[in-house]
Amino acid sequence: MSMQAVGDDDRRPPVNEVLEAAQRGLGLRPKRLPSWLFYDERGSELFEQICEQPEYYLTRSEIALLHEHRDDIAATLGPDVRLVEYGSGHALKTRVLLEAMASPVSWVPVEISPEPLRLSVQRMAERFPELPMQPLCADFSRPLRLPIPPRAPRRTVVYFPGSTIGNFDARTAIQLLRKMRGEMGDAGGILVGADLKKDVPRLEAAYNDRAGVTAAFTLNMLTRINRETGSDFELSKFAHRARYNPMAGRIETHIVSLREQQVRLGRQLVKFHEDEAMLVEYSCKYSTEDFAALAGRAGLRVHARWTDPEGLFGLYYLVRGSGIAAT
Ligand code: AVI
Repeated sequence: MSMQAVGDDDRRPPVNEVLEAAQRGLGLRPKRLPSWLFYDERGSELFEQICEQPEYYLTRSEIALLHEHRDDIAATLGPDVRLVEYGSGHALKTRVLLEAMASPVSWVPVEISPEPLRLSVQRMAERFPELPMQPLCADFSRPLRLPIPPRAPRRTVVYFPGSTIGNFDARTAIQLLRKMRGEMGDAGGILVGADLKKDVPRLEAAYNDRAGVTAAFTLNMLTRINRETGSDFELSKFAHRARYNPMAGRIETHIVSLREQQVRLGRQLVKFHEDEAMLVEYSCKYSTEDFAALAGRAGLRVHARWTDPEGLFGLYYLVRGSGIAAT
């Protein structure tokens, strides 16, 4: 899965990949569509706008945490770190981190889309002209071949901000953490942001902003499928729905058919009942105990964690080991 996909012609998978993914997902019962379909150029713009909505506290909270605890975080990571970032780096978060870190060895942003990767390296190079940058154009959910660092790092830290870990179901999140564990090596660590469980109205508001940006982001998936496969979803006949599932501890986002209808998808006709829902995204929420347990199942333990007084967001530093959290 990729969370970033911007340029129209650079990263977009071949048309048949979108068609195949849509046909596969809509052939399942219940129907679903993969979340990576959100992130075409428009979807990525809309996601940036979501981050600025008053209800979407995640981005602001994580940035505030980084500002508040930058020195402690940098001291925990230690000097001479090779920082491998999953995603091409929200300028603000990565900057705060790198500014606080002592003599980082290199920054390795891992991003599937070449153009956003190039731009983010260009922007970071303006701010950190001395810092070696080793961009890796790859899907971070697959095994990575990290470039040889310019000098021997004391440790490799995988940085995975944004609560993107929450967009994977628990089984896949554990697999991903295990993969990071391999990449960071014995002395390494993982700095990961994860949204905390909290009251349901606040959670649901974050995914149902009043300005309708999240709804537009969700439905843009259908616009993308139409454009890239020639299908004929009528957007006025579908709606965004995001609800918290308390048993599973996650926001589940669906696209709901507002009436009985059929849609052409390639050579297939896909039928929808009135109120039939297609699952498009999980956004899992973790208490600090939940997250420590998740990490434990990947052979990791929480060495340090930072949360805000309101209990909105969690930032964790994971190292190899199992069992009891050290904080
Ligand atoms: C990228 N990810 C962490 C976001 C989230 O909160 O799950 C994606 C998102 N979907 C709707 N709003 C934001």
